[in-house]
Amino acid sequence: MPQPTGPSVAPRPSFPNSVVVGLQWGDEGKGKIVDLLARRSAVVARFQGGNNAGHTLVVEGEKVVLHCIPSGILHQDVLCVVGNGVVVDPEIVRVELERLIASRGPVGPDRLALSDGAQVIMPYHRVLDACREDALGGEMIGTTRKGIGPCYEDKVARRGIRLGDLLDEATLRRRLAAVLPEKNRILTEWYGQPAFTIDGLVAQLQPTVALLGPYIQDTVRLLHRALDQQQPILFEGAQGSFLDIDHGSYPFVTSSNTVAGAACAGTGVGPKDLHIVVGVAKAYTTRVGSGPFPTELEDDTGERLRRIGREFGATTGRPRRCGWLDIPMLRQAIRLSGVTHLALTKLDVLGGFHPLRICVGYAGQDGLPSRPDAQSSLVPVYEEHPGWNDDIADCQTWDQLPAAARAYVERIEALAGVPVALLGTGPGRDSVIHRGAPLDAHRVRSVI
Ligand code: IMP
Repeated sequence: MPQPTGPSVAPRPSFPNSVVVGLQWGDEGKGKIVDLLARRSAVVARFQGGNNAGHTLVVEGEKVVLHCIPSGILHQDVLCVVGNGVVVDPEIVRVELERLIASRGPVGPDRLALSDGAQVIMPYHRVLDACREDALGGEMIGTTRKGIGPCYEDKVARRGIRLGDLLDEATLRRRLAAVLPEKNRILTEWYGQPAFTIDGLVAQLQPTVALLGPYIQDTVRLLHRALDQQQPILFEGAQGSFLDIDHGSYPFVTSSNTVAGAACAGTGVGPKDLHIVVGVAKAYTTRVGSGPFPTELEDDTGERLRRIGREFGATTGRPRRCGWLDIPMLRQAIRLSGVTHLALTKLDVLGGFHPLRICVGYAGQDGLPSRPDAQSSLVPVYEEHPGWNDDIADCQTWDQLPAAARAYVERIEALAGVPVALLGTGPGRDSVIHRGAPLDAHRVRSVI
């Protein structure tokens, strides 16, 4: 009897594909968690945002800040992918790449692949971002002014320029000829700015394109090949759940979807290939830019959190607004991304705070209201917890933590309804406590 032929069901990779997302307003310390999980991954792929993100890592005492290139690049045997959902400022990638090569040795196209479908942040996007913010005055969003919003606008309006377009000068010129007249009219007549010329833009881009050209690839195909070969992929999110264009505190949000589901559209991988979702949250809360922040502390405690937690933006240097941990927001973010594991970062910063507070709800409200204007007037209901004074940076295991720190984490876990698998205890690359079964043992069954 002939056996029916057809695709066989491939065995699962030894380590699951995972997505890392921020559960607050960005700056949760995702870079460090990605760096950790990258050690078990073959590929690290970014799927949204651009150089508005800033991952700071401390490696062998040296500070490494990456805005566009995935933090997985610090591992020699990891392929880093900048997916189609990312907006790329070529100049920023060039500078990051040159710095990496100078300090850590060669990085070839076998270690960094930029999607030919990723949108290019053009110089006029940066000017427009700044002009729009200035025009908003007191209503400004507080963007990073890196051109992120205007670039995503052009993507959706189908007038964007993609990295692949840069590879052929004739194509680039044709695309610019279609786009520039309208851009220049807005820039000159509405905002009183100088116009851009095609020749000027092409000349400006040329040296960068010459360097980046070999890195611009069909990343969807690369990722599909990695899936076929069962190589574990880590999808690296940027920003946080409440900066999501749909689910955040609109309009004080970024211009992309930051929830885990965006990993699929932003790289070309289907949902059945996402196995675990690691949600990263600080042990307290921070926000940069404008918009509602129910647990914000505009007092000495907030100031102390900012000082001890060094809460200044990696991208803009702006002081971050600080406040207590907000459980209704955390629960919402866990749902939005289907989080399977929590990574709680910067627990060490809370040493010496007495008492600690956790927001467990809002007066007269059932959970987080969806309308941002309603979010602005929320009155948090706090639970108080005993703090600890010990420096926990040297704690290597859960048992070494002070009892009050363990109780604080266990309470968060109980309120959030998701296990805390990783705990950040200091700025160093290895200041992380693993808790419970290893992440690969927690493999979640595919839905499809
Ligand atoms: P944009 O992404 O530059 O358009 O800025 C929109 C909002 O998102 C502003 O409030 C920014 O401060 C915020 N934002 C963007 N990227 C990050 C990030 O990586 N961390 C924290 N906030 C961010």
